Amino acid sequence: YGTQKINAQGHLEIGGTDAVELAKTYGTPLFVYDIALFRERAQAFQKTFEEAGIGYQVAYASKAFSSIAIYQVAAEENLSLDVVSGGELYTALKAGFPKEKIHFHGNNKSLEELEMAFEEGIGCIVVDNFHEIGQLKKISKDRKQPMNILLRVTPGIEAHTHDYITTGQEDSKFGFDLNNGQADDAFGQTHEHKYLKLLGLHCHIGSQIFDTAAFRMAAEKLIGKMSAWHGETGYLCPVLNLGGGFGIRYTAEDEPLEPSVYVKGMIETVKETAAAAVFPLPEIWIEPGRSLVGDAGTTLYTVGSMKEVPGTRKYAAVDGGMSDNIRPALYGAKYSSLVANKAEAALTEHYTIAGKCCESGDKLIEDAELPPLEAGDILSVFCTGAYGYSMASNYNRLARPAVVFVEDGGHQLVVKRETLEDLIGQDMSYRKQVKS
Ligand code: LLP
Repeated sequence: YGTQKINAQGHLEIGGTDAVELAKTYGTPLFVYDIALFRERAQAFQKTFEEAGIGYQVAYASKAFSSIAIYQVAAEENLSLDVVSGGELYTALKAGFPKEKIHFHGNNKSLEELEMAFEEGIGCIVVDNFHEIGQLKKISKDRKQPMNILLRVTPGIEAHTHDYITTGQEDSKFGFDLNNGQADDAFGQTHEHKYLKLLGLHCHIGSQIFDTAAFRMAAEKLIGKMSAWHGETGYLCPVLNLGGGFGIRYTAEDEPLEPSVYVKGMIETVKETAAAAVFPLPEIWIEPGRSLVGDAGTTLYTVGSMKEVPGTRKYAAVDGGMSDNIRPALYGAKYSSLVANKAEAALTEHYTIAGKCCESGDKLIEDAELPPLEAGDILSVFCTGAYGYSMASNYNRLARPAVVFVEDGGHQLVVKRETLEDLIGQDMSYRKQVKS
């Protein structure tokens, strides 16, 4: 992945830095991000739009990994930003991210979160439901302040890796149904509003998608709707947001497309559909999360205890687990790995890599092909940059790991490891109530 290679010591190297040295310097478990790869991906998406000469925004879907440092890099790369909570928004503001390029998502934004979005004057709010329309009308009127909005719709297309299914109706907690009149009602309630400025439609059809067909179909449906509204009312929606979901390679079985291929497919369909409908070409916005940070991230663990179940399997336990990567336990997600300090050794053994949480399901990789392991080895698990740290917990009161960025032979701590003191930081004592 990216700048990874094996150096003269036979160690894994990332961003010109020896992974074994990183583990020594910062301890384990450790998230290491190859920032050059993040930049490369961001630029690849943007370049494809530039070359097609079409208006666009590429927003980093920061639920995949949110921290001040990644927001700063995203800003340097001229990305826009998708946030989904007051917490992500606050972090972005603290990072100095340009407010006008922040898009606020979520299916149950609180009044306080929406107020915060107005107060800070962010770029747009992606409106999910009728309750939210009501809240936005009230806030914008009270404040006499305009706000750009997109309507999130569910087009009845669901994509899962290589397949997609189309359903007339979609049973999803998100968005206005495009097929049963809900989206039309939402349009009716917003497009003439004094303060709410309707920019267009948004959809997100799934994650870890490996082809362009579902995106094309979604683009067709959404433009169809925007052009129908144009015909009926004369109102022109200038933006089409097709969400994220571009797949990445976790293991050798995954066959993702290049970022440019996903984008080219979308642009082609948008151009064709808009031309056929005699509808002015909208800007295309996308929201990649996983495909920007996923394979840029690697987790380094230290191997500890081992156990053999004779005739069945060998377990090797590492010093993290479902507390820093819940994806294997939650989704059955697969990962690949390598022993960073024995990167060239022959892969003669099979191990199940277990975490240290008190749960038998806390396994990171089943049946990993590795060299013979010893306590103290540094195991690197690849492609953990998306939804790893951001979904980490303190289960079993484990401290969340540190995060380091590497680039051009330099390394920098960007999120400190939690301490034991941090773990009890919010705790208060309880004193037995005394009846008076
Ligand atoms: N836009 C919207 C509206 C989304 O809901 C999401 C992801 C994205 C963009 C970014 O999707 P991406 O490009 O990262 O696939 N925790 C799960 C993934 C949940 C994705 C939720 N929405 C996982 O670990 O696989």
